[in-house]
Parts: sequence; C-alpha cells; structure tokens
Amino acid sequence: MCGIVGYVGDRSALPILIEGMERLEYRGYDSAGVAVVNGDMTVARKAGRLSELEAELEGRDLPGLLGIGHTRWATHGAPTDENAHPHRDCSGKIALVHNGIIENHDVLKARLVGEGHTFMSETDTEVAAHLIESILQERSCSLLEAVLEAVNVLEGAFALVCINSDDPDRIIVARQEPPIIVGAADGVGLVASDIPALLAHTRDVIPLDNRQVAEVSRGSVRVFDFAGEEVTVEPVHVEWNMEAAEKGGYEDFMLKEIFEQPDVVRDTLRGRVDREGRVKLDEVHWDDETLRRISKVVVVACGTSFHSGMAAKHSIEHYTRIPVELDLASEFRYRDPVLDETCLVIGIAQSGETADTLAAIRFAKEMGAKVVAITNVVGSSITRDADAVLFTHAGPEIGVAATKTFLAQLVALNLFALYLAQQRQSMDPAKTAETLTALQALPEQVEEVLRSQGEVHRAAKRYADASDVIFIGRGVGTAVALEGALKLKEISYIHAEGYPAGELKHGAIALLEPGVPVVAVLTGAKLYDKMLANIEEVRARGADTILVAPQGDERARALANELFEVPVTKPLLSPILDTVPLQLFAYFIAKERGLSPDKPRNLAKSVTVE
Ligand code: G6P
Repeated sequence: MCGIVGYVGDRSALPILIEGMERLEYRGYDSAGVAVVNGDMTVARKAGRLSELEAELEGRDLPGLLGIGHTRWATHGAPTDENAHPHRDCSGKIALVHNGIIENHDVLKARLVGEGHTFMSETDTEVAAHLIESILQERSCSLLEAVLEAVNVLEGAFALVCINSDDPDRIIVARQEPPIIVGAADGVGLVASDIPALLAHTRDVIPLDNRQVAEVSRGSVRVFDFAGEEVTVEPVHVEWNMEAAEKGGYEDFMLKEIFEQPDVVRDTLRGRVDREGRVKLDEVHWDDETLRRISKVVVVACGTSFHSGMAAKHSIEHYTRIPVELDLASEFRYRDPVLDETCLVIGIAQSGETADTLAAIRFAKEMGAKVVAITNVVGSSITRDADAVLFTHAGPEIGVAATKTFLAQLVALNLFALYLAQQRQSMDPAKTAETLTALQALPEQVEEVLRSQGEVHRAAKRYADASDVIFIGRGVGTAVALEGALKLKEISYIHAEGYPAGELKHGAIALLEPGVPVVAVLTGAKLYDKMLANIEEVRARGADTILVAPQGDERARALANELFEVPVTKPLLSPILDTVPLQLFAYFIAKERGLSPDKPRNLAKSVTVE
C-alpha cells in the first residue's frame, strides 16, 4: 500500500518523481505529494488522484536534483491535503514519506509535543519527521545516523524515505516490514516501493531486507542493519521491461492483463514439463523421502489468491491424496492451528508482500512446517521467508483487481500438485502425462474464450444496472463463483455474492426475485446434473441466469438468459478457462457504469498492513 519514489541525480527530480508515481498509483490513490530540494525544501501535496497534484503543479517551477514522492492509501487521518505525504519537521528541512503504520505514534507524539514540536497533520507518519529532527538537534549527527537511531524507537511497520535540504546528495531509506526497493545507475540513486517505477532507470534492483537502512546517493547504495553495521547486498536482476508495464494500446491495464493470459499460462508452464511427460520443478529442492513424509498441506492466502488456493485444494487432494486445509492468511495464526515438520504450507501472494500472508508463513515456519511460496514478484518478501519459491511468470500486474496472476497461480498450483503426486508416486504416470497435455492446451483455449468477448460485453450491457448479482458453482466451480463475485464487486461496486450452489437454498435464495442475475458455473462432469437442478431452482424464482458452460452444451443454452461458452478441459483445470469470461463481465460492467477498473475505490494492489 502507498506508492513511494525517490530520486537523486543530475536531472530535474520532479518529472521523474511524477512518472514513477504514475506507475505506482495502483498502490494507493487517496492523495499524492512530492518534496524537492533546491536549496530549500519545497513540498506540494493534494488530496485525490495524482492528476489533482499534477494540475496543482502545472506552471509551477520546482527545480531540484533531489526529491521524494508518495501516493497514499490512508490509514491514520482522512485523505486531505494536510494528511498527504511528504510530512515535515518543524524546521521544514526534513521531509519524509511512509508506507505502513507507526504503532507507538501517540506515545511519541505526546513526548515530542512536550519538547515543543508542532504537528500539522493527523497522521502517524509525521511523528517520524519530528523524531528525526529531535535526534538531529540533540546529536548534531548525519541524517543516516539520525534515521538509524529513529528506527529503533519507532514501532510497527514502516518503509520510510527521508531527505534533508541541508544534505542534497542523499536519500535515507528504512524498512521494517513493508517493501522498499533501492537502486543506483549512472550517477543516479533511486528508490521505489515497487519494481515498475524503477524500470525506466535500471533492471538491477536491491529490495531492502527487513530491518535494514539504506543510504542512496548518485551511483551508489550503502546498506546497514538496524544496529548500524554495514551489510553487503547483491542486486536482483528483473526480467520485466518497460513495455510490460505500459498499457500497449489497451484502454485499461485490466483489459490488457486479461488479454495477456494465454501468454501468461504459456510462460508459467514453460520449462516445467519435460519431453517424457513429467513435471520438472527445479525450484523445489526437497528430496522424495521428505515429500513422501508430508502428512498435511495447508494453503494460506488472501483475496484472489485465496480463491486460487481454494481450487488448488481439489487438485492437491485428488492427485496426491494428502489432506489439504485452506485458510485465510488473516485468520490462520489466530486459530491455534495444528502444525509440525510433516506439514507443508503453501503461501500464495501475487505481490509477495501481503502482510497477513507473510505473517502466516513465518508463523508456520516457527512451528516447524515447510513453506513453499507462489508469487509473481522476484525479490519480494515472501521469496525470502519461504523455503522454496515457485514463480508465476505473469509479468507486472498493474490493475488492482488481480486477473492474470490468478490464472498463473492456478497453473503453478496444478503443476505443483502434479509434481507432489509424481514424486510420491500417488498418481498413474499416464494420467499425469494426460493432465500435463491438457495444461499445455490451455493457452489456446484461453485465446478461444477471449475471442467470444462480444457475448460477454452484450451481457454486461444488459446487467450493468443490477444492484445484486449472485454467483454459484460446485467443486472447483465454487472458487470460480467466488472469484467472479469478487471481481464484480471490486470494480463495479455492485453487491455480489459467491456461493457453493448447494448452499443457495440455505440463505441466498431469499434474495432471488424476477430480474436478479445469477451467474452459474457449470463445470465438473460429476456435478453437472446437480448444477442444472440448482439452475432450475433459480429460474423457478424468476431470476435471470448467466451460464458459464462447455461449448455446444444445448441443455445449458436452453436454461440461459446469457451464455458464456468455454472449451472443454479436465474438470480440475476448468477454473483456468471459466474465470476468464467472468473477469471480462466485471470489466465491461465497470466500464458501462463509467468507473475506472484499474483503480477501484478504497482498494490497493499490495496490502502491506494487517
Ligand atoms: C489486494 C488486491 C487483490 C489481491 C489481494 C491479495 O486486495 O487488490 O487483487 O488478490 O490483495 O494479494 P496477494 O498479493 O497476497 O495475492
């Protein structure tokens, strides 16, 4: 949450900051601000989208070769101009931006007010600026030393980026939990909370480790631990390029990302299936004996990633016969779960930074469990905390509502489940090979689904004014129903509920009346007739039906007000196809309602607070 950028170099900082902030706006868009040093510290801040700040800056000359910028996702204090970052100390010489929550801000504020400091905002962040000022006054030390002292006083979660107009050559960065990345290239020093903001300058980045402080100057980065000891760090090379983080002719990132899905599925499979029809996962280094000893798999995730975990539970149990528990990461460690070294925990997070998921896997490790992470971001926090990492090769996902990372997760999870089954010899090798062949057919099948966007668009026009939409499915179709409902509510603000179809009659059926649209996912051969019965129940109440059904299914056609046909695959892989029309449905409805699908209100791409 919150987008942070920092620049020190030989060019005017402001346009570089604004460009970086544009790339990071998906992290938060309640307000935005910049601070630039040109002798003095100049700060501009504005509530609302980044465009409001840009309008405010229009025609204003803000020269300076050092600056920081921030797009905010509010935690403490309403999204007003005053609460927008950067925040300053009393002298106005220090400016800083922050992502996270400073938990002891009230105690510190009381102390600092007692010392005579004046606060201008309602944020927890401002306390850090005054604390650093107070240390600088007391010790007459460098900004680096003051920040090193401050981080040991601040409690909670913070990625802090701080500059001092008395020292226009460096940016000091500190990390306790929320991610922050630094880099240096040809006479410039860079800071950002996410990779896309750095791609214009460098593809070699240094994601700071937890409890580290960096001094970023022109062409160099020095990193220290919280005790002040300098540590050696190696940059991580990022394969993504600038083009991948652009809209490439699409109206919105979300649409572009939906249409990238055939390639994403292909790329996530690439190199992971050998010619003999076996799964090859070099990233998973446990020996077969260790894999055979696994007595339970626990999947932890949030949001859309939770839904991919929900579908994966079916695959893992079916292929491996290992029992699978599925938990929301935010609930997991508070329910006293039973874990030991024979348990395998799968943490799924496209960002690799979701605070609850990180906390869940750290807890699992403390309990002795083995942890595998599924993520899309190289160098993200989850990659350091997990014992093994399986990357989804989806490229940068900018749209706040996850789409292509979901499909990539489903592919990676199915591969992982097949791998477990293969190494434990719990599945007939011929069946494994058959399933892998089905997986490899998926990119073209996703393309086929995308070609029928016209039907989905028509349905979206018809139901764009709905006030409630119910989604139902069975088996893996339940995960698709929940994901379809989540997509719709996230970006169109229509009330949407996903249900296992069998549960409909225990509650949600009371919401049905003529005209209410019910989206039903008709997958899984053995559940087909039961789904049809549920659809009849829906129709009997006069509700409209939007069916996601196998191509050429005449029974479904006869029962549908709108029909989204998908090619046939193996039932456990069907979410990879069935989700696609529902992503498009949510997208087109949001557009019909005049909303911005890439930046839905109140949401953020990377949720770094609990
Ligand atoms: C936020 C995003 C969702 C995402 C969820 C979990 O809510 O808006 O799109 O599904 O976080 O993110 P993760 O990085 O853990 O997959």
